[in-house]
Amino acid sequence: MNILLLGSGGREHAMACRIAASERCSKLYVAPGNAGTGEVPKCENVACDPMNFAEVGQFVTSHNVAMVVVGPEAPLVAGIADYFAKETNLKNVMVIGPGASGAQLEGSKDFAKQFMQRHNIPTAAYRTFAASEVEDGVAFLRTLKSPYVLKADGLAAGKGVLIIDNLDEAERELRGMLVDGKFGEASAKVVVEEFLSGVELSVFVLTDGRHYKILPTAKDYKRIDDGDTGPNTGGMGSISPVHFADKPFMQKVEERIVAPTVKGLHDEGIDYKGFIFVGLMAVRNGNTGELEPYVIEYNARMGDPETESVFPRITSDVVDLFEHTWQGNLHQTTVDVDPRTAACVMMVSGGYPGHYEKGKTITGVDQVEGSMVFHAGTRRGADGSLQTAGGRVLCITSLADNMPVAVLKSYQEVEKINWEGCFFRHDIGQDLLKMMI
Ligand code: AMP
Ligand code: GLY
Repeated sequence: MNILLLGSGGREHAMACRIAASERCSKLYVAPGNAGTGEVPKCENVACDPMNFAEVGQFVTSHNVAMVVVGPEAPLVAGIADYFAKETNLKNVMVIGPGASGAQLEGSKDFAKQFMQRHNIPTAAYRTFAASEVEDGVAFLRTLKSPYVLKADGLAAGKGVLIIDNLDEAERELRGMLVDGKFGEASAKVVVEEFLSGVELSVFVLTDGRHYKILPTAKDYKRIDDGDTGPNTGGMGSISPVHFADKPFMQKVEERIVAPTVKGLHDEGIDYKGFIFVGLMAVRNGNTGELEPYVIEYNARMGDPETESVFPRITSDVVDLFEHTWQGNLHQTTVDVDPRTAACVMMVSGGYPGHYEKGKTITGVDQVEGSMVFHAGTRRGADGSLQTAGGRVLCITSLADNMPVAVLKSYQEVEKINWEGCFFRHDIGQDLLKMMI
């Protein structure tokens, strides 16, 4: 079948590799894609805007596309799956991604918190405030202990969460978000919540709306600098699996979080076919010493750069998995996973996540051996050279029998690649290593 994948990041390159590897896939279009996706066998980049649903629909019809896999959240929150479901000539196209009602799990933090409360899913205590309630919000902040967690309700390009030590500053920021529109419409409502102290991890679920498969776990590295310092980024690397997410821990995750989430969606009449990305905090219970999972956030898509370490470990035919997802019989299939560890190191433009320059010539990618190079912000120059075209540029993933070897291998390959201003973190996986010894 012909398949269309929407998106242009490292996540989509990693997905494209697994989709194109399926015998079921005759042709994979990526809209708009990047220099990496354009070079995957069977793949072709197409200049189609994932937010222009009519344009996507026309492409699907004219190119006989049977399946659309949605990479990023924006088209999901804007209702691409609903658009396909209501158009007569598109309604049989298998769209992998929830409709707008399900995507609210990511699109509205207040919706997600209320959903968790309704279904008794463990998460931080919270209250939500609108602009008219700003003084109540300030009063609530004063009842909490530092650090203070403020979350813009809507999508804010990953920047809408503030964690602040000082109460005066937290009050100022809350006013800034609610009254001065710091994040525009996204902060018309703000969730104020209890700070959870622990270790984060990402759990990925594929669901057909009733049944689900838990995919490999991963850990993301969000801050720009070593030792988890500096501003937040889209993600500077990832490791899969996460060693402390062992069987007993994952049993708690499944019983307390994954199963009630899928059942909750179903019970609320939300037909959810796609990925659920559960951002978790593993909090140590002071009495028992055990790790307990709490939900920090939901996303309606796969993570980036988690996909770059998770997808290479999925050995099952992903097109087959997606088809079962669409048909509602995911329970009739299995997800096979490579037991090795994947370590991914993201290489970014100098200055990212602040201002950075584009159009730098990248060298050394052809020297990489035995590791995978996933492109994020790249393009081909007029002379055919590989150039930077974004903040996150390339992601190097290695598989090995254990984490230290996987990490070492990725760093060896990273050393071969260069461009003016290129930057990466040097400590991906080090925190996990410390926990292991
Ligand atoms: P997000 O932009 O939603 O991914 O959130 C950014 C980061 O804020 C998360 O990855 C966590 O590290 C942190 N965070 C969010 N909520 C909490 C919380 N309740 N307690 C502690 N850290 C949090
Ligand atoms: N890596 C975090 C995210 O994709 O949101």
